[in-house]
Amino acid sequence: MNKNIVCVGAGYIGGPTMAVIAKMNPDRKVIVVDINESRIAAWNSEDYSLPIYEPGLVDVVKEVRGKNLFFSTDIEGAVKECDIIFVGVNTPTKTFGRGAGYASDLQYWEATARSIKGYANGDKIVVEKSTLPVRTAAAMEAILNDSAEHRFAVLSNPEFLAEGTAINDLVSPDRVLIGGPQDEFGLAAIQEVVDIYASWVPREKILTTNVWSAELTKLAANAFLAQRVSSINAIAGLCEATGADVEEVARVMGADHRIGPKFLKAGPGFGGSCFKKDVLNLVYLCESFGLHTAAKYWEGVIKMNEHQQERIVSRLIKEMFNTLANKKVAVFGFAFKADTGDTRETPSGAVVRQLDEEHAKIAITDPKALPNAAKDLADLLGEESRIVLEPDPYKAAEGADAVLLMTDWKLYPSLDWQRIYDSMRKPALVFDTRNCLDREALKNIGFKVLNVGK
Ligand SMILES: NC(=O)c1ccc[n+]([C@@H]2O[C@H](COP(=O)([O-])OP(=O)(O)OC[C@H]3O[C@@H](n4cnc5c(N)ncnc54)[C@H](O)[C@@H]3O)[C@@H](O)[C@H]2O)c1
Repeated sequence: MNKNIVCVGAGYIGGPTMAVIAKMNPDRKVIVVDINESRIAAWNSEDYSLPIYEPGLVDVVKEVRGKNLFFSTDIEGAVKECDIIFVGVNTPTKTFGRGAGYASDLQYWEATARSIKGYANGDKIVVEKSTLPVRTAAAMEAILNDSAEHRFAVLSNPEFLAEGTAINDLVSPDRVLIGGPQDEFGLAAIQEVVDIYASWVPREKILTTNVWSAELTKLAANAFLAQRVSSINAIAGLCEATGADVEEVARVMGADHRIGPKFLKAGPGFGGSCFKKDVLNLVYLCESFGLHTAAKYWEGVIKMNEHQQERIVSRLIKEMFNTLANKKVAVFGFAFKADTGDTRETPSGAVVRQLDEEHAKIAITDPKALPNAAKDLADLLGEESRIVLEPDPYKAAEGADAVLLMTDWKLYPSLDWQRIYDSMRKPALVFDTRNCLDREALKNIGFKVLNVGK
C-alpha cells in the first residue's frame, strides 16, 4: 500500500483539508480531483484566484501546489496512483422522492464509490470526509466489495472545521475522529489514516471509534451546535419582550462551566451548508427508526431558526411604521458569517426575500459574497428588480431608511457611521442583528437602533 492520497471533491472541504494535509506531510503526494473543470482550473490558476475564500488558504496553497499538492480532473489516474482515497463530494438534502426535504442525497457519493471501484488497481482505503447518514459506510462497502478482485476498507473521518476559520481549525483541531471496522483489515486501515494526521496533531487528540459512532458523531455535534444557536435565539425573543439583555444573560449563563461561553451569541440564526442539512438528516434518521419524539425535538431547532429571520423582518416592519413599500433598506452582509464568501442557507437570503415581498428597495453590500448573492437571487434580479448589489457600503446606505446589518464582518464597526447617517433619509434606523456595532455611539449620532435580544 502506497502513501499517496487522493481526495474526490475539490470544494470547501476537499480543497482546504488536502492543502493542510499536503503541507504537513511533505513526503506524501496529494491529488485533489473534481468533475467540475472550472473549479479545478481556479485551484490551478496562476494568480491564485481560488474557487473559495478562506483566510490563510492562499498561503498554504502557494507553499505546496505543484510540489506535493495537485489539482486535476483525471479521477481515474489519481485513483490508480493513490491507495488512500478521501471522498468529500457534496451530500445535499434530497429534493425529490422519499425523504425529500430531510434525507441526504447520496447520488454523488454512490457515483464516486462506483468510479473508485471501476478504476481501482489494488486494495484501497476509502475515507468518508463528507457528512453522511449513519450506516452509509455499509452501503458503500456493499458496492465496493461485491467482487473479490480488490479489498476496500471504508472509514469515516468526518470534518469538523468551520468555514471562516478552516485553516486554523485544520492546523490546530480540537480533535480528529477516525472510525472504521474493528477487524484486522479495518484496524490497519485506521492506523494508516491516523498516521496522516499524527504528523502534526497530538496523538491524544486523534480519536478512533467504530464506523457508525464516527458517522453519528458528526451529525450529533452539528445538531448540538445548531441547538445552542436556536436556544439562545429563543431566549433573545423573550429578552426583547421583557427588557432583559441577551448579552448579559448569555455572559452569566456562560460563566457556568457546565454550559460554557461559546456559541451563546444571539443573532439572525445559523446558516451555511451544514447545520440545517445535518439536523434534517438526523430528523429523518430518527423518524426512520421510529423515534418520532426525538425527530420532533430536533425539527424544533430548524423551526426556531426560521422563526428568528421572520421575527427580524417583523420587527423592522413595525419600527418602520408598518410598511416597507418603496423604502430603501441597505443590507450589510450577505455571507452566512464573516470571513467567508459562502452564502448557502444564509439568513440574509431568507430576510432579503421577505423584504422583497414587502416591496422594499434593497441594496445589498458584502465584501466577499456578492458574486454568490447574484447567483442566489438570480430570480429576483433583472431590469424590474428592486434589488441592487453594491460593493461599497457607503453607496449602499445612501438615501436608505434603514441599515440592516446581517453579517458580522470586522469592517462594519469601523465604518464612518456619521457619514452613513448624513447620507440616509431620516429618521434613520440601524438594525444590528449581530450586536456588533457600538449602540451608544450610534444613538449619539442620531440613529434609532435595534438589536437582537435587547
Ligand atoms: N462546508 C463545510 O464547512 C463542511 C464542514 C464539514 C463537513 N462538510 C461536508 O463535506 C461534504 C462536502 O461539502 P463542501 O462544502 O466541500 O461541498 P462543495 O459542494 O463545495 O464541494 C463538493 C465537490 O464535489 C464535487 N463532486 C460531486 N460529485 C463528484 C464526483 N462524482 N466526482 C468528483 N467530484 C464530484 C463537486 O463538483 C464539488 O466541487 C458535504 O458532505 C458536507 O456536509 C462540509
